[in-house]
Amino acid sequence: MTETPATRPPGGGPVTDEVWDRLHAGAVDALTHAYVPYSHFPVGVAALVDDGRIIAGANVENASYGVTLCAECSLVSALHMGGGGKLVAFVCIDGAEQALMPCGRCRQLLFEHAAPGMLLKTVSGIRTIDEVLPDAFGPSTLAAYAG
Ligand code: THU
Repeated sequence: MTETPATRPPGGGPVTDEVWDRLHAGAVDALTHAYVPYSHFPVGVAALVDDGRIIAGANVENASYGVTLCAECSLVSALHMGGGGKLVAFVCIDGAEQALMPCGRCRQLLFEHAAPGMLLKTVSGIRTIDEVLPDAFGPSTLAAYAG
């Protein structure tokens, strides 16, 4: 097994090809749970948590289109409902099971819950959360203002 560059998940071992394969499989399974009667654009996501569990999510649309929940929303809910923790590695795929870039809002969602150096498998290879959301506004920003 080859090891991806960048970080090792804290306490979770390296993000190996096997881990990426498991995340991809989790995202493929999640696609089957997408509720997309309006866009017909299912999105499946999966992530490795820093305690070793793998969580997943799918998009859930709404007749009031703007109320749609992106797949990342259900993943973050699953993270907290399953005991919390930080995201170490993340995969997002489209209905053809190909890598899909998370939308801007969802990059912000992921940033909030990311372990330092969280990895994403993207259309341009493996990237860190800081590469896909540079100079992010986040919890430390508010903490700095609070003094
Ligand atoms: N979508 C996601 O679930 N996550 C993303 O990061 C990109 C977009 C969904 C929302 C909507 O249900 C569909 O893709 C089309 O925009």
